[in-house]
Amino acid sequence: MTQSVSPDRTVTWPEGGVARVPYGIYSDPDLYALEQRRIFRGPVWNFLCLEIELPDSGDYRTTFVGEIPVIVTRDETGAIHAMVNRCAHKGALVCPKERGNGSSLTCVYHSWTYDLRGKLESVAFRKGVRGQGGMPADFDPAKRGLEPLRVDIFCGLIFGTFCDETEPFETYIGDAVGGFMKRNLGRPLRILGGHSQMLHNNWKLYAENLRDSYHATLLHTFYSAFKINRLDMDGGITLSEKGWHHISYAKRATLVEDKEYQDAKVHSAKFDSALAGPQLLESWNEFDDGITHSIQTIFPTAAVQFILNSLAFRFFVPRGVDKTELFWIYLGYADDTEEQTRMRVMQSNLTGAAGLVSLEDGCINEFVQRGVRGSATESAFVEMGGRDVASSEGSRATEVAVRGFWQGYRRLMGIA
Ligand SMILES: [Fe+2]
Repeated sequence: MTQSVSPDRTVTWPEGGVARVPYGIYSDPDLYALEQRRIFRGPVWNFLCLEIELPDSGDYRTTFVGEIPVIVTRDETGAIHAMVNRCAHKGALVCPKERGNGSSLTCVYHSWTYDLRGKLESVAFRKGVRGQGGMPADFDPAKRGLEPLRVDIFCGLIFGTFCDETEPFETYIGDAVGGFMKRNLGRPLRILGGHSQMLHNNWKLYAENLRDSYHATLLHTFYSAFKINRLDMDGGITLSEKGWHHISYAKRATLVEDKEYQDAKVHSAKFDSALAGPQLLESWNEFDDGITHSIQTIFPTAAVQFILNSLAFRFFVPRGVDKTELFWIYLGYADDTEEQTRMRVMQSNLTGAAGLVSLEDGCINEFVQRGVRGSATESAFVEMGGRDVASSEGSRATEVAVRGFWQGYRRLMGIA
C-alpha cells in the first residue's frame, strides 16, 4: 500500500517499506519544512558540540539543530546550557560568532542582555528615556528568555533536544552503540583540528551514505587498494535496538583475499602499487578487539569514525533542501604522545574534505541528487542483504543500516 509522505501529497512511499525510498523525498520543500519540526524539534538528541570546546565558565559555542541556530554555554557553576540563538525581541542572532566568552550574552541590535542560562537580564530603555516611551507596565522579562533546549552529555559530547519526551541519551543510543562510543570516546579527548565542507545534496543522502557499508569498498578505491577497509575482512553491522543508530566495523588483520573481488570486477582489488608517502598508513593497534575501521552513527545527523588511528566526529546541518554542511572535528586523546598525535594528523587525510574519501562521498551524493531530478514518483531499491532491519554481524554486504535510518525517519515523520 502506498502512503502519502509530503504535506501536499506529491511524494508517496511505494510498497516495500524501508527497502524503497521515494526520490521526491530528497527535493520536496514542504517535506523539508516538516522535517524541521518532526525530526529536529522532535524526540531526538541532536549533537551540539564537545564539552572540551567549553573548558571555562562563560565559554559559549554556536551551532545548529536542523536549521535552527543554537548557543551552548558553560555557566559560572560549570553547568552546560543550550538555547536558541535568536533574540526574544526581533529575532536577531544573539551570538554571531562561532565561539567566545562572557558573563552574559547581549544582542547588538537593541542591547537586550541574557544570562548564560538564556534568562533575560535587562532591556535597554525599558523604563523609557526622559520619562517617555519604554516597555508597557505588564512587560515580563521572565517570559522573554531565549528558548531553551534540554541537554544531555555522553562521553564528552553535548546533545540537545527540544522535546520534553526524549528519553535520556544513554537509553536513546542503546547499549550496543553507546558501549562502542565509550570504547572510542570514553577517555579525556583532545581536539586536533576541524573544518567543514558544503555538500550539494539533501541531508538524508549523507545520513544514508554514512550507513552504507556496501559502497565503501567500491567507491573508495583507496580503501580497497590499500586494504584499509574491504568486505572480505571480518566485520559486521550492529544496529541499535530500534535500528536508528549503527556501528559498521572491520578487522584489517583478518583479510583473506576473496574471489568475489575479482569476480565483481572491483578494479582496485587488482591494484598493485605502493604509496610514495607510506607514512600515511603508519598506525598502531589501540584496542585488543581487532577492530581497525569503524563508523558509528547517532540519529539523525552525527557520526564517529575510527579509521586506523584517525578518530573524528562528524555532524551535518541541512542548509536548504539540496544543500548540507558537513562538519569534521579531528580528535586524539589527552594523553597521546607527540608521535601518536603526528600519526593521527597524518591519517586525517584518509577522510576529510581534502582527503581520500570525503570528496568521493560529496560527489556521489550530488550525483544522486542530480540523478533523481524530475523522478519524484520513482524510488530507490534498497534490498542488499535483504529487506529487514536487523544487525548483520557476519557481513557488511548489506544495506541494513540504511533501512534502519528510514525506519527511524518514517516513525518520526508519521509515515509508518
Ligand atoms: Fe563513503
